[in-house]
Amino acid sequence: MSIEQLAETARAMVAPGKGIIAIDESTATIGKRFEGVGIANNEENRRAYRELLLTTPNLGDHISGAILYDETLRQSTRAGVPFTRVMAENGILPGIKVDKGTQPLAGFPGEVVTEGLDGLRARLEEYYKLGARFAKWRAVIHIGDDTPSGTCIEANSHALARYAALCQEQGLVPMVEPEVLMDGEHDIETSYEVHEVVLRALFDALYNSNVALEGTILKASMVLPGKSSGEAADVDEVAEATLMCLKSSVPAILPGIVFLSGGQSDEAATAHLDAMNRLGPNPWPLSFSYGRAMQSAALKLWSQDLVGNFARAQQTVHARARDNGLAAQGKWQG
Ligand code: 13P
Repeated sequence: MSIEQLAETARAMVAPGKGIIAIDESTATIGKRFEGVGIANNEENRRAYRELLLTTPNLGDHISGAILYDETLRQSTRAGVPFTRVMAENGILPGIKVDKGTQPLAGFPGEVVTEGLDGLRARLEEYYKLGARFAKWRAVIHIGDDTPSGTCIEANSHALARYAALCQEQGLVPMVEPEVLMDGEHDIETSYEVHEVVLRALFDALYNSNVALEGTILKASMVLPGKSSGEAADVDEVAEATLMCLKSSVPAILPGIVFLSGGQSDEAATAHLDAMNRLGPNPWPLSFSYGRAMQSAALKLWSQDLVGNFARAQQTVHARARDNGLAAQGKWQG
């Protein structure tokens, strides 16, 4: 796989007006989302829900790729059509979550490190054969009184870099995700400082691991005040802080940056992305890779009537994709 082929995939992921739908919740995480709306967490419900999302009519108008979980990559529609074929027919690239989640970082209470490197080469080889063209790994950074520690940032950056190098070796575009959580009492300045140090460490680690940035996508969190800070930041403040932080720490050669929603409301996630694009031109396309901010309205509707609300729930998925696609161009009308 040449760097040029990886770069082509990466550019397609952030094509104008398009972004990613993240539906890669692990079985435990989708269980929490289902529990919130009273749906049993069994394989058929997970399959049916992912079918709803992936067969949304005209989803490919605004969606370039979908991040799946291992189980979903192997599943099919009720009629027996593999999800990967449904995606191909709609011009949607299959992506795959390849980390195995977080574990407590020994010696550093309250901090976590993402695991999943053992055996990763063989898993990536299989995922490529199953149709995946990009892969996601999520590191999680907590902001607290004494966190994040340098050790936590280093351990997570190192893992992200090793995973990214393996992805490129196996022909998949790495979507590197260092999520700085919005949980906590910190102010927006602290969020800025933590994002900056985390991103600088990540790009140092990618450089040291010979990762080709032309074939890499960054999945970033936004610079926001902590959820329990009592501080409210307006849309422009978040957009300006996030952009300045990214410009100071992310190389311009990167083909694109997509954001996670991280617990923001649907509207806030869209408004922030739109504002950042209005502030452009920027060094990279800025788009979305939202999970909750793409799905929550649909999940709620579907849970009220699994059969009767199927099509209505798909309409909300399409509407969220359209709004975020407009925001990716700075053309959302609110
Ligand atoms: P949220 O947009 O719900 O934060 O999910 C995106 C994601 O993939 C987190 O890893």
